[in-house]
Amino acid sequence: MNRTKFALVTGASSGIGRSIAERLGQSGWQVFAGVRSEAAADEARALHEAIRPVILDVTDGGQIAAAQKVISEATGSTGLQALVNNAGVGVACPIEYQPIADVRRVLETNVIGHVAVTQAFLPLLRRGGGRIVFMSSGAGFIALPMFGAYAASKFALEAVADSLRRDLRPWRLPVINIEPGFVKTRILVNGYRDTTEAFNRLSVEGRAYYAESYRAVQSIQASMLKSALPPERVAATVLKALEARRPRLRYPVGMDAWLARFLRLMPARLADALIAAQGRMAARNADQPAG
Ligand SMILES: NC(=O)c1ccc[n+]([C@@H]2O[C@H](COP(=O)([O-])OP(=O)(O)OC[C@H]3O[C@@H](n4cnc5c(N)ncnc54)[C@H](OP(=O)(O)O)[C@@H]3O)[C@@H](O)[C@H]2O)c1
Repeated sequence: MNRTKFALVTGASSGIGRSIAERLGQSGWQVFAGVRSEAAADEARALHEAIRPVILDVTDGGQIAAAQKVISEATGSTGLQALVNNAGVGVACPIEYQPIADVRRVLETNVIGHVAVTQAFLPLLRRGGGRIVFMSSGAGFIALPMFGAYAASKFALEAVADSLRRDLRPWRLPVINIEPGFVKTRILVNGYRDTTEAFNRLSVEGRAYYAESYRAVQSIQASMLKSALPPERVAATVLKALEARRPRLRYPVGMDAWLARFLRLMPARLADALIAAQGRMAARNADQPAG
């Protein structure tokens, strides 16, 4: 197949990113899959012949520059037709006790990293008339308890995307936000374990204060595992956004994403009360204690 559309997908080693890389590869795109290890590179290569892995930690300026050089040479005058900023991290923790290093890591990965990658690849995107996609979230609309740092990163990403879109308006380079609700990936599958570990790292006092909140999160994670969307659904939306003649600015994916928007429109005190009631109910339904 003669492939003349080039895409870079960050965080392509698992979950949504891997699914996007595979879907684009199957749909005639040449895909550069950003991964962080040689083992992940081998796995990405094995997914589809059109996938070429590049080592790319979005928080590492040296790796960003090296990946830019490789991709610039490989795409030549064609440039890049899509940048999918997908890499992301997040774990449940109350703001009061979240280690500052952890808060920095979430913001550094989910926001600063995306900005740095976008800056580095904009010359190639200009050359190729490309589109920029950010993997936002329902958490970019409503900040749930225990997810302060993660929600802060996704709210920030929404702002970055809005501003960038307006910056780039004269050149008609589309900037698109994908906003999924719960998706069945490592973040959710390992959620129970990660949440338990995070709880166990709290001080005795912290555990006493927040045991119910952790039980609520675990219970919600367990029930979301049953109803969460498959990552392929998000990948299909990304493909649609990249190939639509006139892409939308935002693509909510799944009911949870719409619910997040709805909560955002509510008076904040009413949203607080509803979220707290759901938390209490979830904590009651939890079959195991947080620790
Ligand atoms: N799952 C959901 O319910 C959900 C909902 C809405 C939005 N999202 C967003 O979707 C995106 C993908 O998450 P996912 O659900 O697919 O989770 P995932 O399976 O854990 O994938 C996260 C990806 O990000 C990569 N990553 C983490 N830190 C990185 C860094 N510093 N540099 C480069 N790559 C890095 C991971 O690479 P390693 O394998 O090397 O760690 C992995 O490939 C995230 O932005 C997330 O916030 C997820």
